[in-house]
Amino acid sequence: MLRNRFAILLALLLWLNTFAMAQTVASQAYTPIAGRCPAGFNLVRMAGAPGNQTLSSSEASYIQNRKANVLPQAWKTYLSNVLSTNPFLPDYVSGILSGASSEIPTLGIATSGGGYRAAIFGAGVLNALDARNSSSDAAGTGGLLQAATYLSGLSGSSWFITSLAQANFPTMQELMFGPASPTVSNSSWGGWNADYDIITPSTNSVTDTQYYTNLADELLGKYDAGYVVTFADYWGRMLARHFANGTFSSNIFNESYTHGAGILWSAVANTTSFASYLIPFPIVTADLQAPGQNSSEIIAEDYIPLTNPIIEFNVFETGSFDPQLSAFVPTKYLGTTNNSICVTNYDQSAFIAGSSSELFNEANFTNTLNSEFGSILALMADLMPEPQVEYDVASWPNPFYGVAPDTFIDSTQTNLNMVDGGEDGEVIPLQPLLVKARGVDVIFAIDATDDINDFADGSSLIATQNRTSLYPSAYSFPPVPTSMEEYTAQNLTTRPTFFGCNTTSLNTSTPLLIYLANGGPPYGEVPVTNTSTSQTSYLSSEIQAMLSQTFVITTQGYPENGATKDPYWPSCLACAVVDRARERAGVARSGICSTCMDRYCWNGDALTTAAS
Ligand SMILES: *[C@@H]1O[C@H](CO)[C@@H](O)[C@H](O)[C@H]1NC(C)=O
Ligand SMILES: *[C@@H]1O[C@H](CO)[C@@H](O)[C@H](O)[C@H]1NC(C)=O
Ligand SMILES: *[C@@H]1O[C@H](CO)[C@@H](O)[C@H](O)[C@H]1NC(C)=O
Ligand SMILES: *[C@@H]1O[C@H](CO)[C@@H](O)[C@H](O)[C@H]1NC(C)=O
Ligand SMILES: *[C@@H]1O[C@H](CO)[C@@H](O)[C@H](O)[C@H]1NC(C)=O
Ligand SMILES: *[C@@H]1O[C@H](CO)[C@@H](O)[C@H](O)[C@H]1NC(C)=O
Ligand SMILES: *[C@@H]1O[C@H](CO)[C@@H](O)[C@H](O)[C@H]1NC(C)=O
Ligand SMILES: *[C@@H]1O[C@H](CO)[C@@H](O)[C@H](O)[C@H]1NC(C)=O
Ligand SMILES: *[C@@H]1O[C@H](CO)[C@@H](O)[C@H](O)[C@H]1NC(C)=O
Ligand SMILES: *[C@@H]1O[C@H](CO)[C@@H](O)[C@H](O)[C@H]1NC(C)=O
Ligand SMILES: *[C@@H]1O[C@H](CO)[C@@H](O)[C@H](O)[C@H]1NC(C)=O
Ligand SMILES: *[C@@H]1O[C@H](CO)[C@@H](O)[C@H](O)[C@H]1NC(C)=O
Repeated sequence: MLRNRFAILLALLLWLNTFAMAQTVASQAYTPIAGRCPAGFNLVRMAGAPGNQTLSSSEASYIQNRKANVLPQAWKTYLSNVLSTNPFLPDYVSGILSGASSEIPTLGIATSGGGYRAAIFGAGVLNALDARNSSSDAAGTGGLLQAATYLSGLSGSSWFITSLAQANFPTMQELMFGPASPTVSNSSWGGWNADYDIITPSTNSVTDTQYYTNLADELLGKYDAGYVVTFADYWGRMLARHFANGTFSSNIFNESYTHGAGILWSAVANTTSFASYLIPFPIVTADLQAPGQNSSEIIAEDYIPLTNPIIEFNVFETGSFDPQLSAFVPTKYLGTTNNSICVTNYDQSAFIAGSSSELFNEANFTNTLNSEFGSILALMADLMPEPQVEYDVASWPNPFYGVAPDTFIDSTQTNLNMVDGGEDGEVIPLQPLLVKARGVDVIFAIDATDDINDFADGSSLIATQNRTSLYPSAYSFPPVPTSMEEYTAQNLTTRPTFFGCNTTSLNTSTPLLIYLANGGPPYGEVPVTNTSTSQTSYLSSEIQAMLSQTFVITTQGYPENGATKDPYWPSCLACAVVDRARERAGVARSGICSTCMDRYCWNGDALTTAAS
């Protein structure tokens, strides 16, 4: 948790506050703008019944253009990297990846929550899949990132995915450490600034205290304009210094800059990478905390029932494909609640990341001014009194008021309360990739959940299995083990594992899952990737060490007989990536792919039987 970090003096804060001045530039840039809606405006798009859902026309067009203009070459580049490690792939693998077959894979990558640890682990895996890194190409895994159609994140990985997309899809090194010679401005990328703690960025308590006051001042414009402001806004303004354009080590405490205020999630569509279809379509999720939710449906250790709708933010639309809502509104017009007055500037990228990582409700701190967050809350209550408002959730004007009244739990709420996307137990954002209209047939799932000793042990996949079983007409998910003990006993988190290989027993729209967990260090190494979720600053050297270890975890495969690396892992990964396309093409698995699937697929009870 992020408690015990606010060692600041309330008196000092309130004293400084008496000097609070005119609105800062960040406060202005953070304020939503209301105006008349465009002619013929229709806020809500109903996405259809389960099994018959539709994508937005903008998304459909993006995917179509990416598939037509970008992916054919991306798959060829990936194929040549795989072939450089093993020229003896079955013909069908080369045929599919080179475009000679009419069937091509639709790949989604999902990267889990887990604070900075998960952001760094996710970025480390994507670096190993990135064609722009020659080491990754030589390892035979480079290029898969460029070939993906979708990329999802939540909580810690929402920091990663939003920063990556809004920074115009830089390399992972440039994403984390900033460009070598950055242009310091409100609108350019400066890196994660990870050596500055998210919560206590300075070692000087006066500087930090001034900083806390500045953050609160930055919310005044939004508050004065009549919108609900909570601690999630405050948290989002902290995150903005790290995961949105505009902050550099040279200006982090300088309030002449906007520090990511005004950097909108919808504006990602205007970056050159996105406009050229060069980036996998990014999606971030958050959970709804519904006042009417049934708390007896919350699984132990979680906070949100699996039956609450999961909200997804993509750069075009926000809403849910979950059948109980199945409706969307334009992301650009978030904040809007009717067809006459349209609100813009609400979809601040860092507020979306802040909503996706809003875990402060776990500490029950609403109105408890004597909690560790007490001085900040007192300051906010003093500046922006809102006696009826729940402070420890992200509050969004509900654009779905009156929508799906029989099934949508928040249909009569004026505001949607959003919390950390992992609070229902699904910490890998798989739900958006299971939407049938998206046609994803293979998912690379990256799991850096904190289950045991800050390593993952499969709990998130169990939650997804449970959740998808509630909505069988909407989602199909391959069988996975039902207890964390099974993952441990079968080593499924310490080596890549494929789920859903046994298609004879599955319906054909069930994706194949390539599962790569942060489950232990590479053979013979001391672990560095299981840092605590509550660690909110990292030295560059620490990040580099984590990236190196993550690179090995991603490229080693499942070594046999005491080896440290499986030389056939790149081939096996390619076999998994094309497997659904192979099946559609009516070709049988052969050659090394048969061996690979035997080795990497989870084989249910068969494995336990064989092992005993
Ligand atoms: C899907 O939607 C179309 C168009 O609205 C409709 O004609 C069709 O009957 C629907 N199919 C199902 C299975 O609901
Ligand atoms: C963020 O900065 C990068 C370059 O530094 C730029 O390419 C990109 O368009 C900016 N993004 C937004 C949303 O302004
Ligand atoms: C803040 O940035 C502005 C614009 O670059 C600069 O003029 C000013 O001197 C900076 N203030 C401080 C305290 O560094
Ligand atoms: C940052 O943007 C604000 C608002 O547009 C502007 O007033 C300010 O001058 C900019 N600061 C710098 C240093 O460019
Ligand atoms: C994107 O660019 C278009 C055309 O320049 C502009 O009209 C629109 O406001 C921009 N959108 C955002 C969210 O910045
Ligand atoms: C709440 O959930 C429990 C467990 O699923 C169920 O037994 C109960 O009927 C539910 N209550 C309501 C009011 O839906
Ligand atoms: C539309 O929403 C705005 C708030 O954004 C509100 O002020 C206005 O009264 C609403 N108009 C109608 C017709 O409901
Ligand atoms: C928060 O409050 C709920 C309901 O009052 C309670 O069940 C839960 O144990 C509390 N959690 C913490 C972390 O105090
Ligand atoms: C999944 O469902 C089973 C059976 O209802 C339940 O025992 C288990 O706690 C659930 N686990 C998760 C992570 O949702
Ligand atoms: C799991 O890994 C351990 C340690 O490498 C090994 O001894 C054990 O045989 C493995 N178990 C299975 C089922 O592969
Ligand atoms: C490629 O990845 C390796 C391993 O993480 C890293 O050391 C190197 O800096 C990366 N190269 C580039 C150009 O990003
Ligand atoms: C694979 O499918 C076969 C035939 O339907 C079935 O007997 C077997 O149990 C399945 N194995 C797994 C792990 O699902």
